Amino acid sequence: MFDTVIHSGTVVTASDTFRGDIGIKDGRIAAVAERIEGGTRRIDAGGRLVLPGGIEAHAHIAQESSAGVMTADDYYSGSVSAAFGGNSSFIPFAGQHRGQSVDDVLATYDARAQRSVLDYSYHLIISDPTEAVLHDQLPRAFKRGITSFKVFMTYDLMNLGDGGMLDILTVAKEHGAITMVHAENNDMVKWMNRRLAQQNLTAPKYHAISRPELAEEEAINRAISLAKLVDAPLFIVHVSTAGGAAIVQREKLAGTKLFAETCPQYLALTREDLDRPGMEGAKFMCSPPVRDRATQDALWRHIQSGTFESVSSDHAPYRFDASGKFTAGPDAPYPKIANGMPGIAARLPYLFSEGVAKGRITLQQFVALSATNAAKTFGMTQKGSIAPGMDADIAIWNPDTTRLVTLADQHDNMDFTPFEGMELTGVPEVVLNRGHVIVEDGQLRATEGQGRFVPRATVDLTGKRGYLAKELDPAQNFGARIAP
Ligand code: URP
Ligand code: ZN
Ligand code: ZN
Repeated sequence: MFDTVIHSGTVVTASDTFRGDIGIKDGRIAAVAERIEGGTRRIDAGGRLVLPGGIEAHAHIAQESSAGVMTADDYYSGSVSAAFGGNSSFIPFAGQHRGQSVDDVLATYDARAQRSVLDYSYHLIISDPTEAVLHDQLPRAFKRGITSFKVFMTYDLMNLGDGGMLDILTVAKEHGAITMVHAENNDMVKWMNRRLAQQNLTAPKYHAISRPELAEEEAINRAISLAKLVDAPLFIVHVSTAGGAAIVQREKLAGTKLFAETCPQYLALTREDLDRPGMEGAKFMCSPPVRDRATQDALWRHIQSGTFESVSSDHAPYRFDASGKFTAGPDAPYPKIANGMPGIAARLPYLFSEGVAKGRITLQQFVALSATNAAKTFGMTQKGSIAPGMDADIAIWNPDTTRLVTLADQHDNMDFTPFEGMELTGVPEVVLNRGHVIVEDGQLRATEGQGRFVPRATVDLTGKRGYLAKELDPAQNFGARIAP
């Protein structure tokens, strides 16, 4: 009765590890048992770990930056790269540029995403929260299951200001959606840029100097205050500082409706990597920037102790040429070099190797950080675990193989990987999306366009006490009705 049976493996979920077989029928997990016979196809997972396929919750795919630079990966190459990295689904961004309607943005990304080999959704980036966007277009997007979006506190063409953020947070709360935020203080960064430019300090390494740790810490603190004022859920993306992570930890303890992620680059790289000869440092430019060893240690401690829901890639693939990093010329000053680095294929192998293989995190934590928590936070209710009824999104890992990271293994459209040459233990050998084998024997088995759009549920706030500002409480504010 099963289309596929995965047998003899060690199954791992966010709560358990057990020897078990998995029976798959019509793209779903139909049975999990000690032994399952039969199956049109039997996959031998002896000596392997059978995990929920990864969910990549932060990736820039077929997206133009605010400066108009298109990512090197489209929905085909981006999803293929993600699949080779052990992912079964992903949630890239659909980016609104000023003047665009949300309906137009979604129509554009719907067309781009037709090529995906993975199931997908989008986080909607809002840069222009007009009345029509807030009250007509966003509610329409929520209705089709797009239940998260991102706002920016930095970049002149994206920064909404505090009032704009409050509007978005309030509308999101009304519809059960979650607001994600890129938190860096724009004025601090611009002030640093001016001071550095006055001294002609424009090499890539000064990018790391121009975006101080305090710029992130201040903005995280402010974003949380804004979200608390209206008691709306908030997700802090790509936390890169010990100070920022400590604020998140403190506010979670207080019951704030708060979620957060960090990324492998903040664990693997430091600002010394931006100080490589010539323009080489441009490969390591992302925002917020990579920091130092002490920060890496602090971020690991926060991963271990539950500050972060996920470790995401922030895959932002700009090639080391005139199509990507150097649209403003080969010797462009750092403010004119595209920010971002690739990492969608390296995210899980890096987290497995540095996390599980080195004994920093348990296998259960790995599953939670790579798939289960993203599924719960972003409403992918059919994904992120191994249990009867769930989509058969599965990654079979060999935990013992060690290999060096190469560009070829990333299977993306990039001309470099910032993780080049790192020695990583643990390889996702077989990956399934809704029961279809998409990667096996080092080969792609998927066909272009087989991925499906996933309508998502609203954010699950169970266990988050929230915050009631006195001034927004009708019992204490003379009956004023300010936010839902
Ligand atoms: O440097 C990065 N991360 N570029 C991508 C855009 C963003 O800020 O997320
Ligand atoms: Zn960002
Ligand atoms: Zn990003």
